[in-house]
Amino acid sequence: TRRPVNVVITGAAGQIGYALAPMVCAGAATGREKAIALRLLDVPFAEKALRGVMMELEDAAFELVESVSAHVDPEEAFVDADVCIMVGGFPRKAGMERKDVMGKNVAIYREQARALATKAKPGVKIVVVANPANTNANILRKFAPEIPAANVTCMTRLDHNRALAKLGGKSGRATRDVKNVIIWGNHSSTQYPDVNHATIEGKTAREVIGDDAYLDGEFVDAVRRRGAEIIEARQLSSALSAASSVCDHVYDWLNGTKEGEWTSMGVVSDGSYGVPEGLVYSFPVTCTGGKWQIVQGLTIDERSRKLMDESATELTEEFELAEACLAESA
Ligand code: NAI
Repeated sequence: TRRPVNVVITGAAGQIGYALAPMVCAGAATGREKAIALRLLDVPFAEKALRGVMMELEDAAFELVESVSAHVDPEEAFVDADVCIMVGGFPRKAGMERKDVMGKNVAIYREQARALATKAKPGVKIVVVANPANTNANILRKFAPEIPAANVTCMTRLDHNRALAKLGGKSGRATRDVKNVIIWGNHSSTQYPDVNHATIEGKTAREVIGDDAYLDGEFVDAVRRRGAEIIEARQLSSALSAASSVCDHVYDWLNGTKEGEWTSMGVVSDGSYGVPEGLVYSFPVTCTGGKWQIVQGLTIDERSRKLMDESATELTEEFELAEACLAESA
C-alpha cells in the first residue's frame, strides 16, 4: 500500500541529521518498498537551519518520499510516529562538567518521553543515538511506561560496524565477510567488543587472525577509541558512519537479521548473561517479525565476564546520576 511510514528524526538540524535524513529518504532505514513521511525536529534556535535541510530534501525529489515537514514542537512531530530516531541532544562544551551535560540531556529525554507516549503510535519503534545513549533510552523508558519496553532501544551498531571493519582490515578480507562480533554494554569507553564468537569467511576470527594478544588488547582499544580518532581527524565527531549505522539498526529491526547472523543493539536487560534487569545494555540480538531477541547460550569466558560487568557497573552508576540530575531539576 502507499500508506507511508511516519519517521521522525530529532536533532535533524545537526551534523548527523544532515547525513541521516537523505539516507532515510532513500529507504535505508525502512526499506525500498515503503513510502515515507519524514518529520524533522529540532529546537527553535535551529529552526532556520532545519528549514534549509527540509528544502534540500524536497529538492532531492526522493522517489519514496510522500512528505517532509519541519517541527520545533515534539508533540507535533511525534503525532502517529511509527519510527523515531533520536539524535537530538546537548553537546558537551568546554568547561562543562559531565554531570551538567548529563543533566541537560536526560531532561530532554524525560520531556520527549511524555510527548512520545501521548502522541506516537502505540507500537512506535524508538532508537536513541544521542549521548549518553543507553541512559537517555532508559530515562525515556522510565518516563514513557505506556510504550512497551522492547520498543525503546539505543544505538551501538556503529561500534559493532567499527569492530567488523577492524577485523576485515586486519585479516585482509572485506568487512562483509566478518560476522557475529558483539558489542556488550554501554556506548562508551567501557563497551566490550567481543570477538569470541565472530567468524571471518565462516572460520573463527581467532583462527583467521591468529593473534590473540592483538584481539584481546589493541583491537578492543581501537574500537573503543575510534570515535576519538575520527574527531581528531575531522575536528568533528562521526556523522556519516553514525547515520549509516542507525539505518542498519532500524532496517534490521523492521526487516529481520539474516539467518545465522546477529547484530548488537542497546536493549532493556531481562537479566540475560547476568546483566542487571532493567538496564539498557548492548547485547547480541537477532530480529524477526519486527521484534528483537537476545541471543542466548553463548559461552562467556572469565575475561569477558569481567569486561561485561565493568560496563554494567558503569551503566548502573550513570543511571543513578541521571536520576539524581532529574530529581534536582524537578
Ligand atoms: P549536533 O550538535 O550537530 O546535533 C544535535 C542537534 O540536536 C542540534 O541541531 C541541536 O539543536 C539538536 N537538539 C538539541 N536539543 C534538542 C531537543 N530538545 N529536541 C530536538 N533537537 C534538539 O550533534 P551530532 O554530531 O549530530 O550528534 C548528535 C548526538 O549523537 C550527540 O549526542 C552525539 O554524542 C551522539 N552520537 C552518538 C553516536 C552513537 O554511536 N550512539 C555516534 C555519534 C554521535
